[in-house]
This record gives sequence, C-alpha cells and structure tokens, in this order.
Amino acid sequence: MKKIFITRHIPEAGLRLLRKQRSLKIDVYEKDRIIPRRVLLRRVRGVDIILSILTDRIDKQVMDAAGPQLKLIANFAVGFDNIDINEAKKRGITVTNTPGPEISAAVAEHVLALIFALAHRITETDTFARKNKYKGWGPEMFLGVDVAGSTLGLIGGGAIGSAVAKRLKDGFGVKILYHDVKHNIKLEAETGAVFCPLKTLLKQADWVSLHVPLLPSTHHLIGAPELKLMKKTAYLINTSRGPVVDEATLIDALKNNQIAGAGLDVYEHEPHIPRALRKLPNVVITPHTASATHTSRDAMSRAAAQNILAFTSGKTPPNALS
Ligand code: DGY
Repeated sequence: MKKIFITRHIPEAGLRLLRKQRSLKIDVYEKDRIIPRRVLLRRVRGVDIILSILTDRIDKQVMDAAGPQLKLIANFAVGFDNIDINEAKKRGITVTNTPGPEISAAVAEHVLALIFALAHRITETDTFARKNKYKGWGPEMFLGVDVAGSTLGLIGGGAIGSAVAKRLKDGFGVKILYHDVKHNIKLEAETGAVFCPLKTLLKQADWVSLHVPLLPSTHHLIGAPELKLMKKTAYLINTSRGPVVDEATLIDALKNNQIAGAGLDVYEHEPHIPRALRKLPNVVITPHTASATHTSRDAMSRAAAQNILAFTSGKTPPNALS
C-alpha cells in the first residue's frame, strides 16, 4: 500500500484514475484553499507520494517532514520552480510535471486573448462603457493597433511558445522571431520563425511573449536594460512565471510609456498584484488563469495521475524531470 497526499482537490479526471488503483491510500486536503504550511508539514508525514500544486513550496523541510519513504513528487503544473529539484535528486525522489497539448493550447489561447485585449483596448473600453461614459461615437475614440502583420518575439520556443506562434502565424500572418537556449527546427519549419539574439528580438518585436521556466538563469530575464531595448509601441506578455520579469522596473516602464503596455497572468510575489500595476490603463491582468480551461485542467489532472500510476508500477513516469 502506497500513501499519497494531494495538497488540493484536482479535477476528477485524474482522481478517478488514482482511485481505481486499489494499492493507493489517497488523502486529499479537504479545503478549497492553499494548504497552510504547518498543515502541509503535518499531512505529508509518512507518505510515499506528494501530489503538489504550484503554490506549495516543496523543499528540504517538506521532504524531511515526509520522511525517507517519500519517493515521488508529482506536481500539478508544467512549471516546477516550487520544488527543490536538487534536493529531491540528492534523496532519489522523482519529480514529475504535467505538460501536454491541451495545456499548451489553453495557454496559447490566453496569450492571444491578452494580445487582442491590448490591441483593441478591450478592458479599457469595457470599463468605460460599464461606467456609462459612452456618450457618442467618435472617429478617434480609443484607437488601437492591428495584430495582423505585426511581429511576435517569443522568448522560449518550446511547446507553449510554438502553440502561440502557430496560431498567430496561421490566423494573422504574424512574423515570428524567437530566442531560446537551443533552436527549434519544427517551429522554424511550421511558422517560418527566425532564431535571433535576445537583443535583436527585443528591438524588433511588437509583442514580446515569455515562455521560459523560472530558473536562476531566467530570474529577472526582463529588467531595465531589456525594457529599454523594446520599441515604445511594443507590449510585453507574461504567462510564464512572475519573477522572470523585474516587476518594479516594468511598472516604471509602463508608467513612463517606455513601452506601450503589458498583458500579465503571473506576478513576482503571487498572489500579490501591486496596486500600481492594477491602476495602469495600459495593462491587462489575469490571476494566473492562462491554463484554466476544463480541457486543460482535466488533462493536467490525468497527466499527474498517469505519472503516479507509472511510478507505482515500477515504470519511469512519462513526465519525469529528475
Ligand atoms: C503551469 O502549469 O505551470 C501553469 O502556470 C498553471 O497551469
């Protein structure tokens, strides 16, 4: 019998798969909120597997609290910056995540939603209309920009970045530039994406969209020097992780109209969204919901379960990171 602790209820799609496995003793944190740290430390005691979500910091202290029988941390997220991967490796603990085409599609659609909301000033005009300020049509009211024919600069040309590129290329003839630690030949073949140095991308793109994991090397990847390189008419889109951007510097750049605007789904100190950011009209903000579609979250739930089931039957989980 393997004991598994699930830190927050996840969609039934995955739970059903886990419940079918009679050799698993499943304990789910019963409240629909982020598990308090002290409760997490208590509830993981003696478990073999932790199914965590991205808001749980799974570090040495949690691994110690669980005990030496802990052998799998199955994260319900594509990102895994909430887990001390090196510590897990040292202890022989496998870590898994939940990538897949459904989550890539959902995040890509969200990126497009942010881009179009900015281009057509949707949140600004929605607020204006709701406040009953619309007193008559005008030829120069709320002018926006065209997405068709513009240039997208992808920082990170993996699965999600590629899904964004494909949709913008096929649907709107957007030119794609990308920068990454390695080339993505498939992305280049499918979208005509051009690999370029970060500086070139920042100077040329109309939309700079971030699709990198949060690592020491990507922390504050976008700061004052990078924002300075961007065009005054360009927008920054972040659906990756908040700390990839130096948020205070971004706020300054937005206030000073150094760039045209930003579409943000993630923040440096979540769940805190700075008041200054919330006040800016040239920003569209969503609460880390880029992957929040039923299809995507069901797929993530199944992927987390499949990682666990593979592991408990002695196989390498499909999404093993370490
Ligand atoms: C992830 O999976 O890492 C997203 O941030 C949440 O879906």
